[in-house]
Amino acid sequence: MSSTLSNLKKCCIMAMVTFLIPCLSYSQKLVSVNTETNALVFTVNENNELNTLYFGDKLKNSSEYELIAKHYKQGTDYSEIYNSIYTPAGSKNLLEPAINITHTDGNTSLSLEYINAETNEVEPNVHLTKIVLQDKVYDLEVDLFFKAYYKEDVIETWTEIHNNEKGRIRLHKFASVNLYLYGDNDFWLTHYSGDWAQEMRPEETRLSHGIKVLDSKLGTRANLFQPSVFMVSIGKPATDNEGTVLMGGLEWSGNFRNEFEVDPLNNLRILSGINNYASDFELKKGEAFTTPKFWFSLSRTGKGDASRNIHNWARNYKVLDGKGTRLTLLNNWEATYFDFNEKKLKKLIEDADKLGVDLFLLDDGWFGNNYPRNADNAGLGDWEVNQKKLPNGIGTLVKTAEKNNVKFGIWIEPEMVNPDSDLYHEHPEWVIKQPMREEHYFRNQLVLDLSNPDVQDFIFNVVDGLFTENPNLAYIKWDCNSVIYNAHSDYLKDDEQSELYIKYVQGLYNVLERIREKYPKVPMMLCSGGGGRVDYGAMEYFTEFWPSDNTDPLERVFMQWEYSYFYPSSTIAAHVTDWGNQSIKFKTDVAMMGKMGFDIVVDELPKDELEFCQRAIKNYNELENVIWQGDLYKLKNPWKNELASLMYVGQDKKKAIVFNYLVNYRYEKGSHSPIKLKGLNPASIYEVEEINVFPGHEPIINKEHYSGDFLMKIGVNPKVSSGHPSVVLRLKEVSN
Ligand code: GLA
Repeated sequence: MSSTLSNLKKCCIMAMVTFLIPCLSYSQKLVSVNTETNALVFTVNENNELNTLYFGDKLKNSSEYELIAKHYKQGTDYSEIYNSIYTPAGSKNLLEPAINITHTDGNTSLSLEYINAETNEVEPNVHLTKIVLQDKVYDLEVDLFFKAYYKEDVIETWTEIHNNEKGRIRLHKFASVNLYLYGDNDFWLTHYSGDWAQEMRPEETRLSHGIKVLDSKLGTRANLFQPSVFMVSIGKPATDNEGTVLMGGLEWSGNFRNEFEVDPLNNLRILSGINNYASDFELKKGEAFTTPKFWFSLSRTGKGDASRNIHNWARNYKVLDGKGTRLTLLNNWEATYFDFNEKKLKKLIEDADKLGVDLFLLDDGWFGNNYPRNADNAGLGDWEVNQKKLPNGIGTLVKTAEKNNVKFGIWIEPEMVNPDSDLYHEHPEWVIKQPMREEHYFRNQLVLDLSNPDVQDFIFNVVDGLFTENPNLAYIKWDCNSVIYNAHSDYLKDDEQSELYIKYVQGLYNVLERIREKYPKVPMMLCSGGGGRVDYGAMEYFTEFWPSDNTDPLERVFMQWEYSYFYPSSTIAAHVTDWGNQSIKFKTDVAMMGKMGFDIVVDELPKDELEFCQRAIKNYNELENVIWQGDLYKLKNPWKNELASLMYVGQDKKKAIVFNYLVNYRYEKGSHSPIKLKGLNPASIYEVEEINVFPGHEPIINKEHYSGDFLMKIGVNPKVSSGHPSVVLRLKEVSN
């Protein structure tokens, strides 16, 4: 970098107002994207290429950015674009490219020069910077966008590639982001592995030279083996309360590719975008390709601050109805699986009322006649009500729900088909499969070809039909259990086949867009055989997601701990089920730290357990706003301690809730010392009380008064032990 900038003279920082920087000589230009505490600063080198100069704590005096470069003596950047804002392939580049194309004339070289940059206020708190790059020889324009959410310290970035050439061009790689972090070879990557029922298993590793790739080639259910979200700490592994950490993820519900390259100068290049595996994309003359957005947030004060910023951003701008309420529910999946009839369901609906939840959710198994859905090997695609199980249709269930003061929701898996279905036989051309190969199934099913507009219409009509027939339908669980095997579309032409993975996701988003135009606010849960598909691309259409079919509460403590770095609690569905052999109290307390639901046979609950659940739901209703909209503070990390402890503090700091769960059941394990709380008002006096106390038990802490100062400096001991493995404390401000 030092050579790149050795001649830097003056600088001109982009202000947070509309401002156009014309293409001046290299020595005068800096472009910056600012949030409340951070600045991402780019500089133009002597060849008129735009490179990353800095990403970190905003300097008070912006004219000092020009002094940064001369303090780096990291070696020689032979290409002068190791730190390129968007690394082009095929010319002088030596490292992993962000973009790789073939021009109309068959040439594969690309060299991008800086044209101009402009920042506009999109709305208060949100500024959009557009940077225009242009190939030096070809009519190929690349526009980079940086949308800065000022208060939340979050930036979204994406790219538009414009083909202004005389004919077609082919895109081979087209990343959404190409970040450059300075850091003396001291980067710690936290990423996640997974499988069915084992989502979000964290791994932290020190990055070494070369490239670490995290990707998905699964098409649908893309996160089954790993999600695109990650953290990178710089200098040392960050904790919840200290350290510099970048969190990010791709807003794309399909194949993704994240690359982490420690370069020869010991700095980290992060590239993220649609996976270019088997995904060449053609652009006709005059066409443009827009990459999905990549979101990221940098904190210098640990993971906690980063995640609180992300939650605020998600609730304010990304998640559907992020500031709205959510519905507690009773689901019948584990209570009945496929084995139900009208009578059984009506009883469960009554039970939902008895329990005190807002909604009854009818899961899989309600459809298919020629191929009844009595197991997971038939019926998918045939979305007519099964006459045998439900001779009076869904309508009668909705009415029963209304009579019992609960709402009614329904499960669908509209992207999929079982070979044993009418749909498969009527529309074999709608199914993704290789014409010459044997079919290969995932959960006995295949994926419909959403690149085909007829399939998009079909799926839209499935949802629209349900709402038209049942105007009071109040909730949808949208599942997606299969990955894509044998990727081939009957609809796409031969030379478009490599676009299937991308056009599938675009098709899915088209359908969701249409659904949301007509039904803007109906809550929908995003599910994918558990947590196989969650990202902020999808969450613009969904109010919540199903993190995992694994509902063992001990597992969920760990899983939800990780998910909640990236997603707010109002989106993380957590149900009380039969998984795990912990008490109903432990299960309910765990579900309560997310978006709570139940999936049990209420009728079989002993009296005291039912009473406990009813009270817990009342407590949840009282505190839901604190849980969904409050600030999350992680107090004791379950990976490192005998217990997990975390708390939500209401935005006005008047109420808080502290969850504590024992995670180590060995002799005498538990909370032996006070746990320091966070985020309270030091001057206020809070009443601390244990809630969710099981009938017949005494609260461990009963309305004791402490100052916020005491609670944050000394703390409180929830007295977690094998006898009391989960303790929930409510804090109420009584004076200030
Ligand atoms: C998936 C979901 C479950 C349930 C079943 C129904 O596995 O993750 O919650 O809905 O499908 O078949």
